[in-house]
Amino acid sequence: MKTVILDVDTGVDDAFAIMFAARHPDLNLIGITCVDGNTKLSQVLINTLKVLDKAGARQIPVSSGASRPLLETPKYAEHVHGSDGLGDLDTPLSARKIDQRPAIQLLRDLIDSSPNPVTLIPTAPLTNIALFLGAYPESAKKLERIVLMGGSASKGNATEYAEFNVWHDPEAAAIVFKSGVPITMYGLDVFNDLIMNKDDVASLTASKDECAQFAGRLIDHFISVPNLEVTLGDYGAVATAIRPDLATCKKYRVSVDTSFSPTRGQTHCRPVETKDSELGEHDRDAPVVDVVVASDVDGMRKLWLETVNSQSKI
Ligand code: RIB
Ligand code: CA
Repeated sequence: MKTVILDVDTGVDDAFAIMFAARHPDLNLIGITCVDGNTKLSQVLINTLKVLDKAGARQIPVSSGASRPLLETPKYAEHVHGSDGLGDLDTPLSARKIDQRPAIQLLRDLIDSSPNPVTLIPTAPLTNIALFLGAYPESAKKLERIVLMGGSASKGNATEYAEFNVWHDPEAAAIVFKSGVPITMYGLDVFNDLIMNKDDVASLTASKDECAQFAGRLIDHFISVPNLEVTLGDYGAVATAIRPDLATCKKYRVSVDTSFSPTRGQTHCRPVETKDSELGEHDRDAPVVDVVVASDVDGMRKLWLETVNSQSKI
């Protein structure tokens, strides 16, 4: 059993991550914190509660966090996730209530009170995590690991160079990578591996399981977005946390570009074996991060499909 907390900007692929984490028997999801990202924070909160309903989740504390990046102006991704951030499916509002504690306080309380080490899984801009690290460093030291969806050792998606979660708040990402907490980076190098298709939509929407039907409709939304890779996205970070055997990692020195230049938000990744003479000035003291460079696509897809569809015959 792995004890986890998710930090999300629910969006469609955050929903894939949340429903999996809420349902898988080997995961103890003790809390969710929400942050401005794919859509405005107020909408992220509404979406997150809706997804917990569809997943049939028990009562899990959900807290509100940062409504904007540390320095950058917010830039949303509603062209990908729909105007409501959740595929514009008119999903019913949830009767669940938001926890009154601010996100960084919920993180502190859950980590300090957990009898088991906690793995933190951000699938969003890292604003909440940076604020938590600064406010409660003693609690942060208790974290087992941060397994984050973000960054890229190759190309960007928000710009030619930068991945959206890091690009949305580069200063926060720089703080998190330098925090000293062990980090696994599930970035764009594998983010688009877990491709879904019309057959998956058909089998999910035909299920008697409400979570499966909802998941199928969300995938169908992604299929309707032009020029978009239809992928399980953020879910891959949760799969990596619970089944590291399904992910191949390589150690890189990772630094975040916080310059005000075209490369702002880029994660500079240099293999640890790079000779000192070949390292740039930003790389020498850059932290070593476990970067996911390949994933067992069939294994991760099967794991997700079996978990979100209790009627699954796989
Ligand atoms: O770059 C992909 C990331 O940006 C994912 O977390 C997606 O949900 C968006 O937030
Ligand atoms: Ca996300």
